[in-house]
Amino acid sequence: MSLITLLSGNSSENLFLPAHGRGKGLPEKLRNLLKLKPGIWDLPELFEIGGPLIDEGAIAESQKCSAYKVGVDRCWYGVNGATGLLQSSLLALARPGQAVLMPRNIHKSCIQACLFGGLTPILFDVPFLSDRGHASVFDRTWLQTVFCKAKELEEDIAAVVLVNPTYQGYSADIESLIKEIHSHSLPVLVDEAHGAYLISELRPDLPKSALSFGADLVVHSLHKSAPGLVQSAVLWSQGGKVDPFRIERSIELLQTSSPSSLLLASCESAIKELIESQGQKKLISLIEEAESFSDFLINHEVPLLDNSDPLRIILHSSKFGLSGIEVDKQFIKKRIIGELAEPGTLTFCLGFSSHKGLEKKFVRIWNEILKSSFSQQKFYLFTRPPFEIVATPSRPCSFSWGSNFEKVNLKDSIGRISVEMVCPYPPGIPLLIPGEILDKARVDWLIEQRGFWPEQIPDFVRVVS
Ligand SMILES: Cc1ncc(COP(=O)(O)O)c(C=O)c1O
Repeated sequence: MSLITLLSGNSSENLFLPAHGRGKGLPEKLRNLLKLKPGIWDLPELFEIGGPLIDEGAIAESQKCSAYKVGVDRCWYGVNGATGLLQSSLLALARPGQAVLMPRNIHKSCIQACLFGGLTPILFDVPFLSDRGHASVFDRTWLQTVFCKAKELEEDIAAVVLVNPTYQGYSADIESLIKEIHSHSLPVLVDEAHGAYLISELRPDLPKSALSFGADLVVHSLHKSAPGLVQSAVLWSQGGKVDPFRIERSIELLQTSSPSSLLLASCESAIKELIESQGQKKLISLIEEAESFSDFLINHEVPLLDNSDPLRIILHSSKFGLSGIEVDKQFIKKRIIGELAEPGTLTFCLGFSSHKGLEKKFVRIWNEILKSSFSQQKFYLFTRPPFEIVATPSRPCSFSWGSNFEKVNLKDSIGRISVEMVCPYPPGIPLLIPGEILDKARVDWLIEQRGFWPEQIPDFVRVVS
């Protein structure tokens, strides 16, 4: 089937990202734009339009206006997702040779920035939820231990990165973590790819954006947690710790020289939807609908896990001995497509479109899966990853990545140094990064993970030859 034919079909329930739900949740003005003559909106950086790094024109005005309304100093729209803006942020925060402290559940884009920016990632461990196999959030005491241990490494730490909320919608007490980082006089970049809509501050019981607590840089993926088109994103900056000149220079390094006006218009309209009253009203009602959806499932004994994001529903398949990856395939056969299939769970993203009436079908499918899988049940309790509280790769990431390599079977890789990332996607969290040594504990754990993600983790690894 051709790509065009595939894109034209629309017969499934979309509980995956982008969050606009195949157009249903796009802001009205953007929908109207897309209904005009095909391609009329596909313009270059004309004088009156400008671009994210140009001081004049509609985009400069729009960025100024968004930053003002959100209450921060500056913002830049992005056309290469949160990926591009996280990478630019890291290059702005640290020079080659410096180190950046980041959690083990960091997105691969930040490790890639370390590769090409010559930065050293100091990776710190995070709490682990063994009943479902997820990285969890941590508190200030945890972070204080991390700082103590990181100082022993005697690296020149330039910044800290936090990921909040997580893909599954867990959220930490971000205020106390930011305070701790600032007490060390370091800037903090928060990867809020999954939390753009938190800037709306719709209800006191929902988490707040790290922007409200003085985070220096925050990146939002506007297609993951706002109603933007795929690739739309925004970087917000505030305070005096990071020079905007360094940010712009780093964006310029990675951004295409022809950013799409359509994507930039989508950034503008997605942000407006989050901060203007009409969009907020819609969002409140979607959140209420999502909460009734979850309540219905819970009342019908579908095993859901608690999180802080009502728009993300975590089905705890391993509670019944079932792999989320297998359960996902069953849901897809019944034309409900989830977002994040993992060994212990399947996360559904309700996003910015309505799914009224779907809950009965959902319960029916789950009960069918449960019945048909009863005889194959295996109990899952997941092994904690064998990570040190803090660790740096034993050889510089970029050096290892560029080294000559050979391919060896995972079981024969003990003592070797990886040249690549091992990284199931989604969620895009590396289990191994270039430069890390494959000790026995890591190899045993990777072999176990391969059993859970057979299609995502190969049985070989490329190592420095
Ligand atoms: C935590 C996190 N950060 C960043 C990204 C990258 O987002 P984007 O797809 O907008 O580049 C992802 C994507 O999965 C993610 O999960």
